[in-house]
Amino acid sequence: MPPVSGRLALRGPTLSFVADPFQAGDQASMRYESDGLVLVENGKITAAGDYASLKPQLGRLKPVHYPDALILPGFIDTHVHYPQTQMIGGYGAQLIDWLNKYTFVTEQQFADSEHASAVAGIFLQECLRAGTTTAAVYCTVHPESVNALFHAATRRGMRMIAGKVLMDRNAPAALLDTAQSGYDQSEALIAKWHGKGRLSYAVTPRFAPTSSPAQLEAAAALWKKHPGTYMQTHLAETLQENEWVKSLFPERAGYLDVYAHYSLIGPRAVFGHALHLQEEEWRHLAASGSAVAHCPTSNSFLGSGLFDFTRARQPQAPAQAIRTGLATDVGGGTTLSMLRTMGEAYKIGQFGHYSLSAPKAFYLATRGAAHSLYLEDKIGSIAPGMEADLLVLDMKSTPIIDFRMNYCESLEDALFVQMTMADDRATRAVYVAGKLAYSRG
Ligand code: GUN
Ligand code: ZN
Repeated sequence: MPPVSGRLALRGPTLSFVADPFQAGDQASMRYESDGLVLVENGKITAAGDYASLKPQLGRLKPVHYPDALILPGFIDTHVHYPQTQMIGGYGAQLIDWLNKYTFVTEQQFADSEHASAVAGIFLQECLRAGTTTAAVYCTVHPESVNALFHAATRRGMRMIAGKVLMDRNAPAALLDTAQSGYDQSEALIAKWHGKGRLSYAVTPRFAPTSSPAQLEAAAALWKKHPGTYMQTHLAETLQENEWVKSLFPERAGYLDVYAHYSLIGPRAVFGHALHLQEEEWRHLAASGSAVAHCPTSNSFLGSGLFDFTRARQPQAPAQAIRTGLATDVGGGTTLSMLRTMGEAYKIGQFGHYSLSAPKAFYLATRGAAHSLYLEDKIGSIAPGMEADLLVLDMKSTPIIDFRMNYCESLEDALFVQMTMADDRATRAVYVAGKLAYSRG
Protein backbone atom coordinates (compact mmCIF):
# COMPACT_ATOMS: atom_id res chain seq x y z
CA MET A 1 0.00 0.00 0.00
CA PRO A 2 1.26 3.52 -0.72
CA PRO A 3 2.58 5.29 2.37
CA VAL A 4 0.54 8.14 3.84
CA SER A 5 3.37 10.61 3.32
CA GLY A 6 2.39 10.94 -0.35
CA ARG A 7 5.55 9.16 -1.46
CA LEU A 8 5.35 6.01 -3.50
CA ALA A 9 7.80 3.87 -5.42
CA LEU A 10 6.97 1.21 -8.01
CA ARG A 11 9.59 -1.25 -9.18
CA GLY A 12 9.31 -3.49 -12.25
CA PRO A 13 9.67 -3.38 -16.03
CA THR A 14 8.52 0.02 -17.33
CA LEU A 15 7.59 1.31 -20.78
CA SER A 16 6.92 4.85 -21.90
CA PHE A 17 7.25 6.85 -25.12
CA VAL A 18 9.63 9.75 -25.62
CA ALA A 19 8.62 10.49 -29.23
CA ASP A 20 5.98 9.69 -31.86
CA PRO A 21 6.81 6.24 -33.32
CA PHE A 22 4.97 7.11 -36.55
CA GLN A 23 7.62 9.79 -37.11
CA ALA A 24 10.68 8.67 -35.14
CA GLY A 25 10.30 4.92 -35.62
CA ASP A 26 9.32 2.30 -33.05
CA GLN A 27 12.73 1.71 -31.48
CA ALA A 28 13.73 5.34 -31.12
CA SER A 29 10.44 6.33 -29.53
CA MET A 30 10.28 3.72 -26.75
CA ARG A 31 11.93 4.02 -23.35
CA TYR A 32 11.95 0.54 -21.77
CA GLU A 33 13.55 -0.47 -18.49
CA SER A 34 13.63 -4.19 -17.78
CA ASP A 35 14.06 -3.42 -14.06
CA GLY A 36 12.75 0.07 -13.60
CA LEU A 37 11.85 2.32 -10.72
CA VAL A 38 9.21 5.06 -10.66
CA LEU A 39 9.28 7.52 -7.78
CA VAL A 40 6.17 9.51 -6.96
CA GLU A 41 5.60 12.36 -4.58
CA ASN A 42 2.31 14.14 -3.96
CA GLY A 43 0.68 12.71 -7.06
CA LYS A 44 3.52 13.46 -9.50
CA ILE A 45 6.40 11.45 -10.84
CA THR A 46 9.69 12.77 -9.48
CA ALA A 47 12.06 10.27 -11.06
CA ALA A 48 11.91 7.31 -13.43
CA GLY A 49 14.68 5.12 -14.74
CA ASP A 50 16.52 1.96 -13.99
CA TYR A 51 16.31 0.54 -10.49
CA ALA A 52 20.03 0.22 -9.92
CA SER A 53 20.76 3.90 -10.59
CA LEU A 54 17.73 5.30 -8.78
CA LYS A 55 17.88 3.02 -5.76
CA PRO A 56 19.82 5.55 -3.62
CA GLN A 57 16.91 7.98 -3.97
CA LEU A 58 14.58 5.55 -2.20
CA GLY A 59 15.91 6.30 1.25
CA ARG A 60 13.77 4.30 3.65
CA LEU A 61 10.91 3.99 1.16
CA LYS A 62 10.17 0.40 0.12
CA PRO A 63 9.03 0.05 -3.49
CA VAL A 64 5.97 -1.98 -4.45
CA HIS A 65 7.53 -4.67 -6.65
CA TYR A 66 5.83 -5.98 -9.82
CA PRO A 67 8.40 -8.33 -11.39
CA ASP A 68 6.12 -10.18 -13.88
CA ALA A 69 4.35 -7.10 -15.08
CA LEU A 70 4.81 -4.02 -17.22
CA ILE A 71 4.34 -0.58 -15.70
CA LEU A 72 2.78 1.78 -18.26
CA PRO A 73 1.20 5.21 -18.22
CA GLY A 74 -2.55 4.84 -17.59
CA PHE A 75 -4.51 4.43 -20.82
CA ILE A 76 -6.41 7.39 -22.30
CA ASP A 77 -9.74 6.87 -24.07
CA THR A 78 -10.30 9.86 -26.36
CA HIS A 79 -14.00 9.30 -27.16
CA VAL A 80 -16.59 7.46 -25.08
CA HIS A 81 -20.27 7.87 -24.10
CA TYR A 82 -20.69 6.92 -20.42
CA PRO A 83 -24.53 6.77 -20.56
CA GLN A 84 -24.19 4.05 -23.19
CA THR A 85 -22.43 1.71 -20.73
CA GLN A 86 -25.83 0.10 -20.15
CA MET A 87 -26.49 -0.51 -23.86
CA ILE A 88 -23.24 -2.03 -25.16
CA GLY A 89 -24.00 -4.74 -27.67
CA GLY A 90 -27.30 -3.55 -29.15
CA TYR A 91 -28.08 -5.98 -31.96
CA GLY A 92 -28.66 -5.48 -35.62
CA ALA A 93 -28.50 -1.82 -36.60
CA GLN A 94 -26.15 0.59 -38.31
CA LEU A 95 -25.45 4.08 -37.00
CA ILE A 96 -28.62 6.12 -37.64
CA ASP A 97 -31.02 3.25 -36.85
CA TRP A 98 -28.88 2.30 -33.87
CA LEU A 99 -29.11 5.87 -32.52
CA ASN A 100 -32.89 5.86 -32.85
CA LYS A 101 -33.48 2.32 -31.65
CA TYR A 102 -31.09 2.19 -28.68
CA THR A 103 -29.18 5.38 -27.92
CA PHE A 104 -31.94 7.95 -27.86
CA VAL A 105 -34.10 5.63 -25.75
CA THR A 106 -31.35 4.93 -23.21
CA GLU A 107 -30.17 8.53 -22.91
CA GLN A 108 -33.63 9.71 -21.79
CA GLN A 109 -33.07 7.87 -18.50
CA PHE A 110 -30.31 10.36 -17.58
CA ALA A 111 -32.82 13.04 -16.69
CA ASP A 112 -32.84 11.10 -13.42
CA SER A 113 -29.73 12.15 -11.52
CA GLU A 114 -29.74 9.05 -9.32
CA HIS A 115 -29.63 6.86 -12.37
CA ALA A 116 -26.89 9.05 -13.88
CA SER A 117 -24.82 8.80 -10.69
CA ALA A 118 -25.15 5.04 -10.55
CA VAL A 119 -24.06 4.60 -14.17
CA ALA A 120 -21.24 7.16 -13.84
CA GLY A 121 -19.84 5.18 -10.91
CA ILE A 122 -20.00 1.89 -12.77
CA PHE A 123 -18.46 3.49 -15.86
CA LEU A 124 -15.45 4.95 -14.03
CA GLN A 125 -14.91 1.76 -12.06
CA GLU A 126 -14.90 -0.20 -15.35
CA CYS A 127 -12.47 2.33 -16.87
CA LEU A 128 -10.08 1.74 -13.98
CA ARG A 129 -10.51 -2.03 -14.24
CA ALA A 130 -9.49 -1.68 -17.88
CA GLY A 131 -6.47 0.47 -16.99
CA THR A 132 -7.96 3.71 -18.31
CA THR A 133 -7.25 6.73 -16.14
CA THR A 134 -8.40 9.58 -18.42
CA ALA A 135 -11.23 9.82 -20.95
CA ALA A 136 -12.99 12.37 -23.13
CA VAL A 137 -16.58 11.62 -22.28
CA TYR A 138 -19.95 12.45 -23.81
CA CYS A 139 -22.71 12.80 -21.21
CA THR A 140 -26.34 13.32 -22.28
CA VAL A 141 -28.28 16.49 -22.97
CA HIS A 142 -29.15 16.68 -19.24
CA PRO A 143 -26.82 18.83 -17.08
CA GLU A 144 -27.38 16.34 -14.23
CA SER A 145 -25.58 13.72 -16.28
CA VAL A 146 -22.46 15.91 -16.34
CA ASN A 147 -22.64 16.60 -12.62
CA ALA A 148 -22.88 12.85 -12.00
CA LEU A 149 -19.77 12.08 -14.06
CA PHE A 150 -17.66 14.92 -12.65
CA HIS A 151 -18.66 14.08 -9.05
CA ALA A 152 -17.69 10.45 -9.64
CA ALA A 153 -14.36 11.50 -11.23
CA THR A 154 -13.61 13.88 -8.35
CA ARG A 155 -14.17 11.08 -5.83
CA ARG A 156 -11.60 8.98 -7.68
CA GLY A 157 -9.16 11.81 -8.41
CA MET A 158 -9.26 11.04 -12.14
CA ARG A 159 -8.35 13.48 -14.92
CA MET A 160 -11.53 13.65 -17.02
CA ILE A 161 -12.84 15.69 -19.92
CA ALA A 162 -16.62 15.73 -20.35
CA GLY A 163 -19.56 17.76 -21.51
CA LYS A 164 -23.29 18.01 -21.93
CA VAL A 165 -24.46 16.87 -25.34
CA LEU A 166 -26.03 19.65 -27.42
CA MET A 167 -28.96 18.66 -29.65
CA ASP A 168 -31.73 20.93 -30.86
CA ARG A 169 -33.11 18.89 -33.76
CA ASN A 170 -33.52 15.40 -35.23
CA ALA A 171 -33.83 13.61 -31.89
CA PRO A 172 -36.77 12.82 -29.56
CA ALA A 173 -38.30 15.92 -27.92
CA ALA A 174 -37.20 14.74 -24.46
CA LEU A 175 -33.57 14.97 -25.56
CA LEU A 176 -33.67 18.39 -27.19
CA ASP A 177 -32.34 21.65 -25.84
CA THR A 178 -32.29 24.92 -27.78
CA ALA A 179 -29.38 27.00 -29.01
CA GLN A 180 -29.90 29.31 -26.03
CA SER A 181 -30.63 26.75 -23.29
CA GLY A 182 -27.79 24.52 -24.48
CA TYR A 183 -25.43 27.50 -24.32
CA ASP A 184 -26.63 28.61 -20.88
CA GLN A 185 -26.54 25.13 -19.37
CA SER A 186 -23.08 24.42 -20.78
CA GLU A 187 -21.76 27.74 -19.52
CA ALA A 188 -23.09 27.03 -16.02
CA LEU A 189 -21.36 23.64 -16.13
CA ILE A 190 -18.10 25.27 -17.25
CA ALA A 191 -18.30 27.67 -14.30
CA LYS A 192 -18.98 24.79 -11.94
CA TRP A 193 -16.43 22.25 -13.19
CA HIS A 194 -13.87 23.44 -15.74
CA GLY A 195 -10.39 23.62 -14.24
CA LYS A 196 -11.57 22.27 -10.89
CA GLY A 197 -9.00 19.72 -9.77
CA ARG A 198 -8.29 17.50 -12.77
CA LEU A 199 -11.50 18.21 -14.67
CA SER A 200 -11.94 19.89 -18.04
CA TYR A 201 -15.10 20.78 -19.88
CA ALA A 202 -15.84 19.83 -23.48
CA VAL A 203 -18.43 21.76 -25.48
CA THR A 204 -20.22 18.79 -27.06
CA PRO A 205 -22.48 19.28 -30.08
CA ARG A 206 -23.37 15.62 -30.76
CA PHE A 207 -22.89 15.94 -34.54
CA ALA A 208 -23.95 18.29 -37.30
CA PRO A 209 -27.30 16.53 -38.04
CA THR A 210 -28.63 17.09 -34.50
CA SER A 211 -27.63 20.75 -34.18
CA SER A 212 -29.16 23.67 -36.05
CA PRO A 213 -26.86 26.30 -37.55
CA ALA A 214 -27.82 28.53 -34.61
CA GLN A 215 -26.71 25.89 -32.12
CA LEU A 216 -23.40 25.31 -33.90
CA GLU A 217 -22.81 29.05 -33.81
CA ALA A 218 -23.61 29.20 -30.11
CA ALA A 219 -21.33 26.23 -29.40
CA ALA A 220 -18.44 27.96 -31.16
CA ALA A 221 -19.04 31.21 -29.28
CA LEU A 222 -19.00 29.33 -25.97
CA TRP A 223 -15.87 27.35 -26.85
CA LYS A 224 -14.08 30.56 -27.86
CA LYS A 225 -15.22 32.42 -24.74
CA HIS A 226 -13.68 29.77 -22.45
CA PRO A 227 -10.07 29.10 -23.45
CA GLY A 228 -8.78 25.71 -22.40
CA THR A 229 -12.12 24.00 -22.88
CA TYR A 230 -12.48 21.28 -25.50
CA MET A 231 -14.90 20.78 -28.38
CA GLN A 232 -15.88 17.21 -29.17
CA THR A 233 -18.20 15.89 -31.86
CA HIS A 234 -18.59 13.16 -34.49
CA LEU A 235 -17.29 13.44 -38.05
CA ALA A 236 -17.84 11.33 -41.18
CA GLU A 237 -18.60 8.08 -39.38
CA THR A 238 -20.82 6.61 -42.10
CA LEU A 239 -21.61 7.33 -45.74
CA GLN A 240 -25.31 7.67 -44.92
CA GLU A 241 -24.47 10.33 -42.33
CA ASN A 242 -22.28 12.16 -44.88
CA GLU A 243 -25.28 12.27 -47.28
CA TRP A 244 -27.52 13.54 -44.50
CA VAL A 245 -25.08 16.33 -43.64
CA LYS A 246 -24.88 17.25 -47.34
CA SER A 247 -28.67 17.57 -47.49
CA LEU A 248 -28.82 19.63 -44.27
CA PHE A 249 -25.95 21.95 -45.21
CA PRO A 250 -26.02 22.03 -49.04
CA GLU A 251 -24.02 25.25 -49.20
CA ARG A 252 -20.98 23.72 -47.46
CA ALA A 253 -18.12 22.06 -49.36
CA GLY A 254 -18.09 18.94 -47.19
CA TYR A 255 -18.74 17.56 -43.71
CA LEU A 256 -15.66 19.11 -42.06
CA ASP A 257 -16.44 22.39 -43.78
CA VAL A 258 -19.66 22.55 -41.76
CA TYR A 259 -17.66 22.53 -38.53
CA ALA A 260 -15.01 24.82 -40.01
CA HIS A 261 -17.66 27.31 -41.15
CA TYR A 262 -18.98 27.56 -37.59
CA SER A 263 -15.42 27.84 -36.15
CA LEU A 264 -15.57 24.43 -34.54
CA ILE A 265 -12.10 23.25 -35.52
CA GLY A 266 -8.66 23.89 -34.03
CA PRO A 267 -6.56 22.90 -31.03
CA ARG A 268 -8.64 20.92 -28.50
CA ALA A 269 -11.25 19.97 -31.09
CA VAL A 270 -11.64 16.18 -31.05
CA PHE A 271 -13.49 14.55 -33.92
CA GLY A 272 -14.74 11.01 -33.40
CA HIS A 273 -14.29 8.50 -36.26
CA ALA A 274 -13.18 10.51 -39.36
CA LEU A 275 -13.70 7.57 -41.71
CA HIS A 276 -15.12 9.06 -44.90
CA LEU A 277 -13.07 12.17 -45.66
CA GLN A 278 -11.67 13.87 -48.73
CA GLU A 279 -7.97 14.76 -48.96
CA GLU A 280 -8.63 18.47 -48.39
CA GLU A 281 -10.46 17.59 -45.18
CA TRP A 282 -7.45 15.63 -43.90
CA ARG A 283 -5.25 18.62 -44.73
CA HIS A 284 -7.60 20.96 -42.91
CA LEU A 285 -7.59 18.73 -39.82
CA ALA A 286 -3.79 18.71 -39.79
CA ALA A 287 -3.32 22.42 -40.44
CA SER A 288 -5.86 23.42 -37.79
CA GLY A 289 -4.29 21.28 -35.03
CA SER A 290 -7.54 19.35 -34.59
CA ALA A 291 -7.50 15.74 -33.41
CA VAL A 292 -9.30 12.59 -34.46
CA ALA A 293 -10.37 9.75 -32.20
CA HIS A 294 -10.13 6.36 -33.86
CA CYS A 295 -12.81 4.00 -32.56
CA PRO A 296 -12.14 0.57 -34.09
CA THR A 297 -14.54 -1.67 -32.16
CA SER A 298 -17.37 0.74 -32.88
CA ASN A 299 -16.49 1.03 -36.55
CA SER A 300 -16.68 -2.71 -37.08
CA PHE A 301 -19.65 -3.27 -34.73
CA LEU A 302 -21.78 -0.64 -36.50
CA GLY A 303 -20.32 -1.49 -39.91
CA SER A 304 -19.27 2.13 -40.38
CA GLY A 305 -16.04 1.82 -42.37
CA LEU A 306 -12.27 1.58 -42.17
CA PHE A 307 -9.99 4.18 -40.58
CA ASP A 308 -7.14 5.25 -42.86
CA PHE A 309 -4.05 4.96 -40.66
CA THR A 310 -1.66 5.78 -43.44
CA ARG A 311 -3.36 9.06 -44.27
CA ALA A 312 -3.97 10.04 -40.67
CA ARG A 313 -0.57 9.21 -39.21
CA GLN A 314 1.97 8.68 -41.99
CA PRO A 315 1.30 11.07 -44.85
CA GLN A 316 4.09 11.88 -47.32
CA ALA A 317 4.82 15.12 -45.47
CA PRO A 318 5.03 14.70 -41.67
CA ALA A 319 3.47 18.14 -41.17
CA GLN A 320 0.26 16.66 -42.57
CA ALA A 321 0.00 14.01 -39.83
CA ILE A 322 -3.14 14.30 -37.73
CA ARG A 323 -3.15 14.25 -33.95
CA THR A 324 -4.78 10.90 -33.24
CA GLY A 325 -5.93 9.00 -30.18
CA LEU A 326 -7.49 5.61 -29.76
CA ALA A 327 -10.99 5.43 -28.35
CA THR A 328 -13.61 2.88 -27.35
CA ASP A 329 -16.77 4.82 -28.33
CA VAL A 330 -18.80 2.69 -25.95
CA GLY A 331 -21.67 1.84 -26.52
CA GLY A 332 -21.15 1.82 -30.32
CA GLY A 333 -17.87 0.28 -29.27
CA THR A 334 -18.03 -3.09 -27.62
CA THR A 335 -15.48 -2.77 -24.83
CA LEU A 336 -13.91 -0.25 -22.44
CA SER A 337 -10.61 -2.14 -22.70
CA MET A 338 -7.94 -0.20 -24.57
CA LEU A 339 -6.05 -3.47 -25.08
CA ARG A 340 -9.06 -4.93 -26.91
CA THR A 341 -9.33 -1.62 -28.78
CA MET A 342 -5.67 -1.82 -29.88
CA GLY A 343 -6.22 -5.38 -31.07
CA GLU A 344 -9.20 -4.30 -33.15
CA ALA A 345 -7.29 -1.28 -34.49
CA TYR A 346 -4.71 -3.71 -35.82
CA LYS A 347 -7.42 -5.71 -37.62
CA ILE A 348 -8.96 -2.57 -39.12
CA GLY A 349 -5.50 -1.56 -40.34
CA GLN A 350 -5.04 -4.97 -41.92
CA PHE A 351 -8.14 -4.46 -44.11
CA GLY A 352 -6.34 -1.43 -45.53
CA HIS A 353 -3.05 -3.37 -45.84
CA TYR A 354 -1.59 -1.38 -42.96
CA SER A 355 -0.11 -3.45 -40.11
CA LEU A 356 -0.23 -1.29 -36.98
CA SER A 357 2.82 -2.18 -34.87
CA ALA A 358 2.43 -2.80 -31.14
CA PRO A 359 4.57 0.23 -30.15
CA LYS A 360 2.40 2.47 -32.35
CA ALA A 361 -0.79 1.02 -30.86
CA PHE A 362 0.44 1.51 -27.27
CA TYR A 363 1.54 5.03 -28.22
CA LEU A 364 -1.96 5.85 -29.52
CA ALA A 365 -3.45 4.74 -26.20
CA THR A 366 -0.98 6.73 -24.06
CA ARG A 367 1.29 9.57 -25.16
CA GLY A 368 -0.32 9.87 -28.60
CA ALA A 369 -3.76 10.21 -27.03
CA ALA A 370 -2.36 12.81 -24.60
CA HIS A 371 -0.85 14.67 -27.57
CA SER A 372 -4.21 14.65 -29.34
CA LEU A 373 -5.75 16.26 -26.24
CA TYR A 374 -2.89 18.75 -25.74
CA LEU A 375 -2.12 17.06 -22.43
CA GLU A 376 1.28 15.54 -23.20
CA ASP A 377 2.88 17.71 -20.53
CA LYS A 378 0.62 16.18 -17.86
CA ILE A 379 -0.30 12.59 -18.68
CA GLY A 380 0.52 9.74 -21.06
CA SER A 381 4.21 9.27 -20.13
CA ILE A 382 6.31 8.05 -17.26
CA ALA A 383 8.70 10.93 -16.72
CA PRO A 384 9.54 13.47 -14.02
CA GLY A 385 6.85 16.11 -13.66
CA MET A 386 4.08 13.98 -15.10
CA GLU A 387 0.97 13.15 -13.09
CA ALA A 388 1.36 9.68 -11.62
CA ASP A 389 -1.44 7.82 -13.43
CA LEU A 390 0.08 4.38 -13.81
CA LEU A 391 -1.11 1.00 -15.01
CA VAL A 392 0.51 -2.22 -13.89
CA LEU A 393 -0.14 -4.77 -16.60
CA ASP A 394 0.10 -8.48 -15.84
CA MET A 395 1.91 -9.95 -18.85
CA LYS A 396 0.66 -13.49 -18.06
CA SER A 397 -2.99 -12.80 -17.28
CA THR A 398 -4.49 -15.99 -18.72
CA PRO A 399 -3.09 -19.51 -19.14
CA ILE A 400 -2.83 -19.19 -22.90
CA ILE A 401 -1.11 -15.78 -22.73
CA ASP A 402 1.29 -17.21 -20.14
CA PHE A 403 2.04 -20.08 -22.53
CA ARG A 404 2.31 -17.79 -25.59
CA MET A 405 4.73 -15.46 -23.80
CA ASN A 406 7.30 -18.27 -23.68
CA TYR A 407 7.65 -17.87 -27.43
CA CYS A 408 8.06 -14.10 -27.57
CA GLU A 409 11.49 -13.01 -28.68
CA SER A 410 11.24 -9.28 -28.21
CA LEU A 411 9.42 -6.55 -26.34
CA GLU A 412 7.45 -5.82 -29.52
CA ASP A 413 6.32 -9.47 -29.68
CA ALA A 414 5.23 -9.40 -26.07
CA LEU A 415 3.30 -6.14 -26.54
CA PHE A 416 1.64 -7.48 -29.66
CA VAL A 417 0.51 -10.62 -27.86
CA GLN A 418 -0.99 -8.44 -25.12
CA MET A 419 -2.95 -6.26 -27.55
CA THR A 420 -4.11 -9.29 -29.48
CA MET A 421 -5.08 -11.53 -26.57
CA ALA A 422 -5.34 -9.62 -23.28
CA ASP A 423 -8.16 -7.60 -21.74
CA ASP A 424 -9.14 -6.17 -18.35
CA ARG A 425 -7.98 -9.38 -16.64
CA ALA A 426 -4.46 -8.12 -17.29
CA THR A 427 -4.96 -5.04 -15.12
CA ARG A 428 -3.03 -5.92 -11.99
CA ALA A 429 -3.15 -2.46 -10.40
CA VAL A 430 -3.93 1.13 -11.31
CA TYR A 431 -2.58 4.23 -9.59
CA VAL A 432 -4.36 7.55 -10.04
CA ALA A 433 -2.29 10.61 -9.11
CA GLY A 434 -0.03 8.33 -7.12
CA LYS A 435 -2.78 6.57 -5.18
CA LEU A 436 -3.79 2.96 -5.60
CA ALA A 437 -7.21 3.19 -7.29
CA TYR A 438 -7.70 -0.41 -8.39
CA SER A 439 -6.04 -3.66 -7.50
CA ARG A 440 -7.02 -7.02 -8.98
CA GLY A 441 -8.31 -9.53 -6.49
N1 GUN B 1 -22.98 9.92 -33.94
C1 GUN B 1 -23.81 10.73 -33.26
N2 GUN B 1 -24.04 10.25 -32.02
C2 GUN B 1 -23.34 9.12 -31.92
C3 GUN B 1 -23.18 8.16 -30.86
O1 GUN B 1 -23.72 8.25 -29.77
N3 GUN B 1 -22.36 7.11 -31.14
C4 GUN B 1 -21.72 6.98 -32.33
N4 GUN B 1 -20.93 5.93 -32.53
N5 GUN B 1 -21.89 7.85 -33.32
C5 GUN B 1 -22.68 8.91 -33.13
ZN1 ZN C 1 -19.36 8.45 -30.29
